[in-house]
Amino acid sequence: MDRKKITIPDLMQKKAQGQKVTMLTAYDYPTARVMDQAGVDAVLVGDSLGMVVLGYDSTVPVTMDEMLHHIKAVRRGLTYPLLIGDMPFMSYQVSKEQAIANAGRMMKEGGCDCVKLEGGAEVAPTVKAIVQAGIPVCAHIGLTPQSVAQLGGYKVQGKDLAGAQKLIEAAGALAEAGASLVVFECIPAPLAEAITKATPMVTIGIGGGAGCDGQVLVIHDLVGLAERKPPKMARQYANIFPVLNEAVSTYVKEVTSGAFPAPEHGFAMDPAVLAQLKL
Ligand code: KIV
Repeated sequence: MDRKKITIPDLMQKKAQGQKVTMLTAYDYPTARVMDQAGVDAVLVGDSLGMVVLGYDSTVPVTMDEMLHHIKAVRRGLTYPLLIGDMPFMSYQVSKEQAIANAGRMMKEGGCDCVKLEGGAEVAPTVKAIVQAGIPVCAHIGLTPQSVAQLGGYKVQGKDLAGAQKLIEAAGALAEAGASLVVFECIPAPLAEAITKATPMVTIGIGGGAGCDGQVLVIHDLVGLAERKPPKMARQYANIFPVLNEAVSTYVKEVTSGAFPAPEHGFAMDPAVLAQLKL
């Protein structure tokens, strides 16, 4: 099959035709290679990097340099999927100028096709400024982990009338500002479906139900590469943490016992040369 690089208009076309969009997070080259081969539409280097790869307690400490380091690795592994770079906390909040400069770094240094940033109507002017600079934007509303302190924890958003109305207004403002895509994290499925029908943006759910235009998951949750239980909104398709654990434990046992390395893992030497060595 002839494959071509996925663009934002391709995702818009999928929405128009009722075809689902697939997105996953990746943080390194080998995972990017798997996603490239598996036919994922879009790869997000999320700031979840901070929690699943760098071992931070939240996404708040993640820096631009950390994001770019991982975005570049993922870029090297991708040919076809759209690459989205997540703008870390405080890389777009201080001023529009700083937001454009940092979004520009994601495109120029990281090779991203699009940037993602969290927030509702309050970030719409920033989204507009970035889009006007020629950079496509993926918005992110609902549970926005960078604002976890303000939200009072990792909680479902938009369950009551005021909260749901605020999300509807946020989606309107972000679409008006020119965002092409929007992530709905942990919002009620009927609300996500209603906004999906009303908005021109391609909606990507993570805990947003099946009515979104597409879905995204954190790859560590999908493959079971975390010690913790996957969150409610994820489905674990494999459980590789115990597989890795078993392999590493066996290696430790075999090196300790002398079972590894075996002769075939080493390199031979001419015995005549060996005999002449002065030790
Ligand atoms: O950082 C991230 O991985 C994300 C996804 C959960 C959408 O924002």
